Amino acid sequence: MTRILVTSALPYINGVKHLGNLIGSMLPADVYSRFQRARGHEVVFICATDEHGTPAELAALEAGQSVEDYCAALHQIQAEAGEAFGLSFDYFGRSSSQTNHETTQHLAEALEREGLIEERLDKQVYSIDDGRFLPDRYVEGTCPHCGYEKARGDQCDSCGRLLDPTELKDPYSTISGSKNIEVRETRHLYLLQSKMQERIAQWVANRPRWPSLTKSIALKWLEEGLRDRSITRDLKWGIPVTQNGQPRPGFENKVFYVWFDAPIEYISATKEWADNNNQDWQQYWLTDKGAEDTLYVQFMGKDNVAFHTVSFPCTLIGSGEPWKTVDMLKSLNWLTWYGGKFSTSEGRGIFMDQALTLLPADYWRWYLMSNAPESDDTSFTLETFAGAVNKDLADVLGNFVNRITRFGNGKFGPEIPAGGEIGAAEEDLFAELDRRIASYTSNMEAMEFRKSFADLRAIWAAGNEYLQIAAPWTAFKTDPDKAAVSVRVALNLIRLIAVLSAPVIPFTAEKMLAIFDLGLDDVAWPKEKAAQELTRLAPGTKFNLPDVLFQKIDEEMMEQWAERFGAPRH
Ligand code: 2FM
Ligand code: ZN
Repeated sequence: MTRILVTSALPYINGVKHLGNLIGSMLPADVYSRFQRARGHEVVFICATDEHGTPAELAALEAGQSVEDYCAALHQIQAEAGEAFGLSFDYFGRSSSQTNHETTQHLAEALEREGLIEERLDKQVYSIDDGRFLPDRYVEGTCPHCGYEKARGDQCDSCGRLLDPTELKDPYSTISGSKNIEVRETRHLYLLQSKMQERIAQWVANRPRWPSLTKSIALKWLEEGLRDRSITRDLKWGIPVTQNGQPRPGFENKVFYVWFDAPIEYISATKEWADNNNQDWQQYWLTDKGAEDTLYVQFMGKDNVAFHTVSFPCTLIGSGEPWKTVDMLKSLNWLTWYGGKFSTSEGRGIFMDQALTLLPADYWRWYLMSNAPESDDTSFTLETFAGAVNKDLADVLGNFVNRITRFGNGKFGPEIPAGGEIGAAEEDLFAELDRRIASYTSNMEAMEFRKSFADLRAIWAAGNEYLQIAAPWTAFKTDPDKAAVSVRVALNLIRLIAVLSAPVIPFTAEKMLAIFDLGLDDVAWPKEKAAQELTRLAPGTKFNLPDVLFQKIDEEMMEQWAERFGAPRH
């Protein structure tokens, strides 16, 4: 048994997450955690809301709430949405927690002791009417190079040049539109990442098993050379900056930058989980306290990779303390909304709470995981979604379960029948299952989700093919014992399929096990060959007739949804 720490990138607090966010980190992390738990490993799956930064402050302002109240309310909403989707977090924390204040301040002070923090004077755009310094994306103005009038603070979309917001002519605040803007001097703490170049390069080189997307992003940043990075901001909402445990002189009105404290919340949330569960957080996070034996796996969208392969490791390694760093980092590309962007601010796409008003969580979980944007971006369309639901779930899995339970009950009654002997059709099924289960398990270990779920789909299809070949409905007329074998094997296969499918469609797996009055805690990941696994439910075991497992998506539903979500239909 291995101790495994799994973290999902922390969703920003401002609003319920869309399907793109879900497949970007939380869902694959959940599927992997469920898989490793089922394999008998000791898994702690940590997530939290990422609550600091200007967007959170502005969202609260717009909602007419204090930022504290806003974050508390949205945290609750996100926690509920996660639960409804079956996300099996062991702990869902908040980056604004007291614990995270302490861990963040501790790490910043450790970095300073190591000579990696420096105060520097910056020039930054200040909006007098908004009463705040403007982060790059909240300033627009005229490009000094090409004259484009809506150039963003960090880049001109017309000529493509990278900009410093202080270079813009006629700058205005995108928050209020105000042009009452000036450049002010402000002091910030810089983390001297340039001094960490060698150590981080060495650390990355020691991670040969990283997937190529992860590795290529890390290497690109290293090749460009690590730059010193400011880790404080002029904001009220956030973690106060300290020195020797006291407010840092000159920084009374500043807080740590959201991207400095967010990953540290992985540690803080683990501490809170451990405190609540009488566990030792150190064996997850301190290498001299057992964490060298912990496997640490992170999940995130590709835009987060640099922060996790460079910035956060700089914090941990630079502290001079024995912090655990990530072993495996699974990063995903984008799920797009018909080739464009899902957008929280513009409400484009389908959001987690909306999705569940259309269909149960497993429909979405299956579609998203079997089409995970792994090697490339993947475009969500209602057509591909309906295809996955109607073909894979309804025609293949649902049909198999429905057919054999009804036939078995009709001919032999509600108990698994005895009699008959294993023949060629069964031997072929066992061989196919052994091959596929081995492949499925190793693909899941490798977090190759598309391949994993192609294997799982093939296992479901093997059930139908077996019934097609064994044809118990025909056999029953001349050789009821032969039909009894098929019913017994196929009912056992429902149980086995439930176990194998539980990581991705946990709610359906429970329904399938309930056919035999079993729950997920009563079953274990297959350790034996299929020939043995398919004898676990003995003759005489009672079974219940399930309701139809999956509803199909029809044209009318598609039309309605297309209209509701503004999806193009052809
Ligand atoms: O991109 C995002 O959604 C960020 N909120 C992810 C933070 S991950 C971690 F570092 F906290
Ligand atoms: Zn320009």
